[in-house]
Amino acid sequence: MDQWAKASGLNRRALLRRAGAAATGLVALPLSACEARNSLFSADGAGANPLAIPKLDQGIVEQGERVFRLSISAGQKEFAPGVASPTIGVNAPYLGQTLEMRRGERVQLHVDNGLDEGATVHWHGFELPAAADGGPHQLIRPGARWSPSFEVRQRASLYWYHSHLHRGTGPQVYAGLAAPIYVRDDEEDALDLPSEYGVDDIPLIVQDRLLDSSGKLLYPQNMHAQMMGVRGNRLYVNGTQNAVFDARTGLLRLRILNGSNARFYDFSLSGGQTMQLIVSDGGLLERPHAVRSLRLAPGERAQVVVDLSEGRPLSLVATSPDNSRGMMGGDGGGMMGGGMMVRRRDDTEMDEPFRVLDIRPSGSSPQRKLLPQLAALPAIDPSLAVRTRRFVLDMGMMGGGMSINGASMNMNVVNERVPVGQWEIWEIANASMMAHPFHIHNAQFRVIDRDGRAPPPLETGFKDTVIVNPREQVRVLLRFEEYTDPDLPYMYHCHILEHEDAGMMGQFLVVNS
Ligand code: C2O
Ligand code: CU
Ligand code: CU
Repeated sequence: MDQWAKASGLNRRALLRRAGAAATGLVALPLSACEARNSLFSADGAGANPLAIPKLDQGIVEQGERVFRLSISAGQKEFAPGVASPTIGVNAPYLGQTLEMRRGERVQLHVDNGLDEGATVHWHGFELPAAADGGPHQLIRPGARWSPSFEVRQRASLYWYHSHLHRGTGPQVYAGLAAPIYVRDDEEDALDLPSEYGVDDIPLIVQDRLLDSSGKLLYPQNMHAQMMGVRGNRLYVNGTQNAVFDARTGLLRLRILNGSNARFYDFSLSGGQTMQLIVSDGGLLERPHAVRSLRLAPGERAQVVVDLSEGRPLSLVATSPDNSRGMMGGDGGGMMGGGMMVRRRDDTEMDEPFRVLDIRPSGSSPQRKLLPQLAALPAIDPSLAVRTRRFVLDMGMMGGGMSINGASMNMNVVNERVPVGQWEIWEIANASMMAHPFHIHNAQFRVIDRDGRAPPPLETGFKDTVIVNPREQVRVLLRFEEYTDPDLPYMYHCHILEHEDAGMMGQFLVVNS
């Protein structure tokens, strides 16, 4: 009997009632008793599968615009061999194709919703008019079409599109409504980086999924899942479990997207080999950084170049950091808003490193070096800012008050009005005991500091999503260069999708000053 299955069958209210009965005492949360340690996370015996690589969709250029046709529909996928689960996909049964566009061109996207529920598609990381953003206000009703168009202003990088349905983003992304976007530009093309799609330039959408003992996909909706976010007991890359990639080049560029609903990952290479970190969320770093480990929270991306010139097979591995230290700690309990919660270990906790992707080079190849300099980025100058806005993230009593500055997301309330063109410091403080990835729409910002300390290499470049650790304060510098709209807001929110859905989100207008 799978306890998760049972838990997901209970409604939230019943669980809350049960929790309430124990108001200040110990609250037992649903555990998975039978599936002791996860089975397939570490690729133990489920075989190796060739990494699926999403097809590249370059659209069609019509009258000076690059036009994409996206059709959202219900599908099916076998997350465990032989057991089909219902999914959502875009021009595919699950996930979608990689859209490729160039900086400076105009794009138009025709999005058809073939689901029997509403959906939205948000272009994560893009600066664009609020009406084209694809947030909760751009609902596409069942059977309807939405056709936004905008100019691609982003630097070359990996972006992504995903559902942003009000209170329903978590389940739709989990079901598959998410896919990569490649933006290319001249600046990056001049660098001779590995850039042949599917050959030496590979998107990796890393997602965990929870399967019941029969192999069916589960989306638990109990209080534990809302608080911690939905985390799985299986790992998929581009929908492939135990993925293997046959490399034919000496340098391999991996574009990693943490597309999970809630899980953080610390990525590294087997054998302690370093990887060259070259690109953050919003484009090239100033120079490559040799790193042994790389932390990505949901919504974040990073690009690394891996040296395969020696011809030895290696693996991209990960551990899953505890992003809730002290709150519902693994072995003990923790204090939360006055009520004590105790949780025993469940089968979604991963202490051991697990394999994400096995890389098999075809043989040794000549060494190829990256350029020592990648891009000239503007200096981060906080003195440009004419005002500071503060955002306090909190989870409230047992996750019941997911909020920013004390308010939960309300579609009818605009929380901030930001003058266009004005440099600002956004000071994001985490009042809870769990780390939150804070994401801002319509912006690529720079990280000034974390509790006054300089940020790590990944945060020296442009970012649209940044981890804010428990009790930490992160300051970012930003400016909305264009696109005023007196009515339609953009979002800022936690990218743990269950937190977003539960209200850790706010709205801002970009206005004329
Ligand atoms: Cu990737 Cu507002 O979302
Ligand atoms: Cu976004
Ligand atoms: Cu959060």
